[in-house]
Amino acid sequence: MCGIAGYIGHKPAGQVLIVALERLKYRGYDSAGLALVDEGEIRLRRAAGKLKNLSDKLDAVPAPGTCGIAHTRWATHGPPTEANCHPHLSGDERIAVVHNGIIENHEELRRELQAQGAVFRSETDTEVIPHLIASVYRGKPLEAVRATVARLRGSFAFAVVFADQPRRIIAVRQGSPLLVGRGRSAPGSAPAGRARNDRSVTDGGTPSDQRELLIASDIPALLPHATEMLVLEDGQIADLGEHGVRITTFTGSPVTAVFKPIEITAEAVSKGKHDTFMAKEIAEQPEVLRRLLDSRLRDGRLVEPDLGVDLRAVNHLVFLACGTSWHAALNGRRYLESLARVHVEVDISSEYRYRNPIAAGGTLVVSISQSGETADTIAGQRLARAKFIPVVALVNVVTSTIARESGGVLPLLAGPEIGVASTKAYTAQLFALWLFALQVAKAKGLLDPETESKAIAAALRLPGQVAETLAGCESAVAEAADLFSAANDTVFLGRGGEHPTALEGALKLKEIAYVHASGYPAGEFKHGPIAQVTAKLPVICLCPHDQLYEKMLSNVQEVRARHGRIIGVGHAGDRQLKDLCDHVFPVARADDEMLQPLLSILPLQRYAYHVARRRDCDVDQPRNLAKSVTVE
Ligand code: M6R
Repeated sequence: MCGIAGYIGHKPAGQVLIVALERLKYRGYDSAGLALVDEGEIRLRRAAGKLKNLSDKLDAVPAPGTCGIAHTRWATHGPPTEANCHPHLSGDERIAVVHNGIIENHEELRRELQAQGAVFRSETDTEVIPHLIASVYRGKPLEAVRATVARLRGSFAFAVVFADQPRRIIAVRQGSPLLVGRGRSAPGSAPAGRARNDRSVTDGGTPSDQRELLIASDIPALLPHATEMLVLEDGQIADLGEHGVRITTFTGSPVTAVFKPIEITAEAVSKGKHDTFMAKEIAEQPEVLRRLLDSRLRDGRLVEPDLGVDLRAVNHLVFLACGTSWHAALNGRRYLESLARVHVEVDISSEYRYRNPIAAGGTLVVSISQSGETADTIAGQRLARAKFIPVVALVNVVTSTIARESGGVLPLLAGPEIGVASTKAYTAQLFALWLFALQVAKAKGLLDPETESKAIAAALRLPGQVAETLAGCESAVAEAADLFSAANDTVFLGRGGEHPTALEGALKLKEIAYVHASGYPAGEFKHGPIAQVTAKLPVICLCPHDQLYEKMLSNVQEVRARHGRIIGVGHAGDRQLKDLCDHVFPVARADDEMLQPLLSILPLQRYAYHVARRRDCDVDQPRNLAKSVTVE
């Protein structure tokens, strides 16, 4: 959790870093802070609560400087108070550090440093870092940071500035993501604000071409200043300064810095005409699915991304995922079993990582993750790799740890997903899993050309059906939200492919509207949970015309007989459903039944959004959450 950023350039660093934090706050947002280096001093501004509190503070007491680091926090060690806000300082306040991750041996280091006289001002694990650096700092930042990382255990990405190194940031990566960005060169323009006595490069280096230099936990925070970036690897240190960017390993071996152009635009990470990122991302779904499909079609046939695995030999698949990605995996199992006849297990990553899974031949692990940085999924796939099980990643962020540690990557191409509630990544995951199932089926000789053509025709019509559903369900959804936004419990029922939809609909309502909600396989409801039904309980029933439609209607009858308030999700014009339900959210009918869950989820995303708005909840930054769960 947490996001870190850093900037060296010619613009006021405070303003640049506030924008960077704005784009990182999906990673945590319970406090924020920054440290700028100016005239041989570190200027610290920190505030508990939302980022707005920090920017108000910066407006009230501006901090000059064109070099600095910043942090947005999701509390792990210590509550979200100002004292626990990053950056943290050394005892003499000459060194400042921002950190993402966990220092596992912080207790032991804290005791050791206290015995040497260090006075700690926070409860965080991070604070040991500036104290450790200070204890070995003799004017050579890289040497001090290298000596410090040798003492740390855990997973971390951190950045350091020094009061006596006015245009220098040292950034370290071990287990948490970190990117280095670089702007266009501006030949001849000396950076404004450069201290005259700046002789910061004490460790050698090449002359600077005066580009803006940045670091960040994620790409959006590098924009619009950086035009190219590199992904720092575990065990590497980036030294940013007048000399440009130098990368070395923890033991000091030089590494060639290879920058690649950044392909994401600043528009892709703004809300555009929408009031929230969630609303924007829901609306983007037709375009996301179209893009994904385009990338997988050539001359009207499906093209198979090279995953570096012989899919013909795969006879056992394990999906590893958390949260929404786990819901997508549940439908992935249906796709793989039905189309490719492969035995599939779906595992919650935090459970898999502590089991002793069997590594039989023919097993393939597929990690499913929007962010690619979910700690439990990373640990699960590392366990699989340690057992020599091949791993493939289905991820949205292709520069992520999960992608880089996998043998092959299936990209979701959904574009940056910033709202904490996953929406467009979920439908992209379902679609990508269905395409993957077709790929495995094809490799195994189970997909004849006619079936492939039919599948492609269904896929081509899907983006239009998504757009039609989003437009067609809106008024019914808003009306139901008016009626039920005060309800503190909601039940979601679905069968077959719609069972994951029920789970996902419930998760959306819980996480952004704080409504207690449960999703059940509808056939299971009568085995206990049906006792909850009263005339006040909204029960959302997923009833598209699939092979379990009749069974599902019987389950709806059971709820109706107990006076539950029924909201049906089904096809416009379904009279039978209309007669049974108090309200209907109309959805288009997918040409291929397996794709129907991509349509059925849409009104549930919008319902959660509307209920959250009516309950005055912060849709994009719900309480207690962060977008990437990079802690266990
Ligand atoms: O980035 P990932 O897909 O690995 O994230 C997994 C979950 O943390 C995530 O899906 C979470 O449940 C979302 N907030 C759901 O909207």
